[in-house]
Amino acid sequence: MACFKGCFGNRPPVDVKRRRPSAYGVITDLDIKDGKTRNALNIKLQMEITEVLSEATYGLTPEGVDSSHYEAQDFFAFKEILGSGATGVVFRAVFKPSGQVFAVKFIPNFRQIKVMVIRELTVLKFSSLCKYLIGFHSHFRVDTNMYFVMELCEGGTLEDLLEPKHLMPPKLARIYLKEISSALFFLHRMRIVHRDVYLANCLLTSTAHLKLCDFGLCRTVDDPQGEMMTDCGKPWIRAPEMYLDKPCSFGIDWWSVGILLYRFITGCNPFNCDKLTQGYQSVTKLKEKYPEWLFTDKDALDLCQKLLIKEPKRRLCAENEIHDIKSHSYFMNIDWNEIENMADIIEQEMLGDVERYLVVIARMSSILGINTENLAANVTKARGSVSSLERGDKTKMLSNALKKIMPMTATPLNGDWSTRRTTESSV
Ligand SMILES: Nc1ncnc2c1ncn2[C@@H]1O[C@H](COP(=O)(O)OP(=O)(O)O)[C@@H](O)[C@H]1O
Ligand SMILES: [Mg+2]
Repeated sequence: MACFKGCFGNRPPVDVKRRRPSAYGVITDLDIKDGKTRNALNIKLQMEITEVLSEATYGLTPEGVDSSHYEAQDFFAFKEILGSGATGVVFRAVFKPSGQVFAVKFIPNFRQIKVMVIRELTVLKFSSLCKYLIGFHSHFRVDTNMYFVMELCEGGTLEDLLEPKHLMPPKLARIYLKEISSALFFLHRMRIVHRDVYLANCLLTSTAHLKLCDFGLCRTVDDPQGEMMTDCGKPWIRAPEMYLDKPCSFGIDWWSVGILLYRFITGCNPFNCDKLTQGYQSVTKLKEKYPEWLFTDKDALDLCQKLLIKEPKRRLCAENEIHDIKSHSYFMNIDWNEIENMADIIEQEMLGDVERYLVVIARMSSILGINTENLAANVTKARGSVSSLERGDKTKMLSNALKKIMPMTATPLNGDWSTRRTTESSV
């Protein structure tokens, strides 16, 4: 294995400003009002400052490696695949010199999707400022491949957490809605629309808090009243105004939050459509249905209905999103500055309708390292009147659910990563 000279702190000691003065000089030109010219310049600038992987990238000199052309593997040991999407594959990777573990997004042939990559990078560069957005470490490119080095979220995604038809326990639903809203407040304050808010882009940390990722579809809104945007996003999260080619703005993200909330509280999507044509029919023409049992949680129902108003100007958050969300009765007992202890909340949820939330709670317990056997025993104790047979069943159910979800943590790559990197298409 290569040895490394030099040092490495939390951030790579790269001073782009010092090494590339000409590229930075362009920044002052970005004040230009015309959006298209500004975007073009922005992309040009970002291409220039995107570093080819070199000794300078991390301030290190791996020994025994041809220094004229480093590979990502010279600096990172790639482990299992954490997930993949339309743009790339994300690996758990160990930074060899320090042993720090990161999530590295590998984007092959990035020039083909240059605009998305640059948009993602632009947002990633300040995402660490918000605790509900994925943290960014560094990036580099090798030939035509781009790599983003990001904070690792060990809890997987909300999609992994919520098996089909499983509901999110109400307290967790409220906290996750709060966290996703906080992430959007931050992005929207920077005049950025995310446009791809859905379960697979909501990551969970090892403390089970939420972080929004995947900024490839982000767009800046210069005029919140009249910005037209191109179509994008999954058919079942697209807002009606996108289908109808009407002006789109921050409201499309709040529509997606409405879809998320509907999924949390009912266990399914309001508009089931994998194809755009189906989406057009159902999203623009049909009204979502609510199961009768939901009418007991009037606050959740009201928030969901108001976020899923088809007319963007009448939708909740159209005027003052922070006020509209924070003052809604659904968030009545939520302290917006508090960082909840999720382990406590899971224990509290166990006293509720355990069966309904079993898989979610079991998976959450595994993320938080909670011993579910003790937990189940405590629940039965607290309930008092439960017979020993029921108690045994409950513990068994929880353990089985836990076993079921365990393989979801990661799929190890077979064999050595280095043997798999001969062609891009093999990844
Ligand atoms: N920082 C991370 N930590 C853990 N898993 C991640 C991280 N970033 C992404 N993933 C996983 O990789 C998947 C794809 O990443 P994403 O950035 O959404 O790529 P794409 O733009 O291709 O959709 C996510 O759905 C998630 O499962
Ligand atoms: Mg994604």
